[in-house]
Amino acid sequence: MSRATIIYDTRSGNTEIMAKAIEEGLRQAGVQVLLKRTTNAKADDLADVDAVVLGSPTYHRDLISLMKTFLFEMEKADLKGKIGAAFGSYGWSGESVQMMTDTMKHIFEMNVMEPGLKLLRTPSQNGLKQCKEFGKQIAEKIKESKV
Ligand SMILES: Cc1cc2nc3c(=O)[nH]c(=O)nc-3n(C[C@H](O)[C@H](O)[C@H](O)COP(=O)(O)O)c2cc1C
Repeated sequence: MSRATIIYDTRSGNTEIMAKAIEEGLRQAGVQVLLKRTTNAKADDLADVDAVVLGSPTYHRDLISLMKTFLFEMEKADLKGKIGAAFGSYGWSGESVQMMTDTMKHIFEMNVMEPGLKLLRTPSQNGLKQCKEFGKQIAEKIKESKV
């Protein structure tokens, strides 16, 4: 069975809503999912998974600091070649998604889906649909990588 880990953090809940909808999309596509906030997550949670999905909102044109800390924890895992994807809620500039994407590509040498998924503030019904669709696209990429 295909497996994915979603690690995210949030201050006011919007990125968590996205994380749960992406989880649903992955599950509907038959992927087994582990969903954790950064503070409960360890590098071991990324072992033996096909895809790592990271979520952070943008604050002060930056990642939420808990995600920065987790990116250092990720150095302990062997991620080369694994599928990566990033998402996050934002208010006007939304740099966090590109920052996670760049780190997964350039530091961890992962096979990253681009673009990641950025949604304005609290996801609308259409935003939730986009999250589920994003989960399904990640599932599709996992399938392609196994052929
Ligand atoms: C103090 C503060 C700073 C923020 N800075 C940014 C920013 O630099 N760029 C941006 O796009 N959004 C910014 N936002 C908006 C948040 O990214 C937005 O509210 C987002 O939905 C929060 O996600 P969360 O609920 O997952 O924490 C900021 C919000 C606050 C309260």
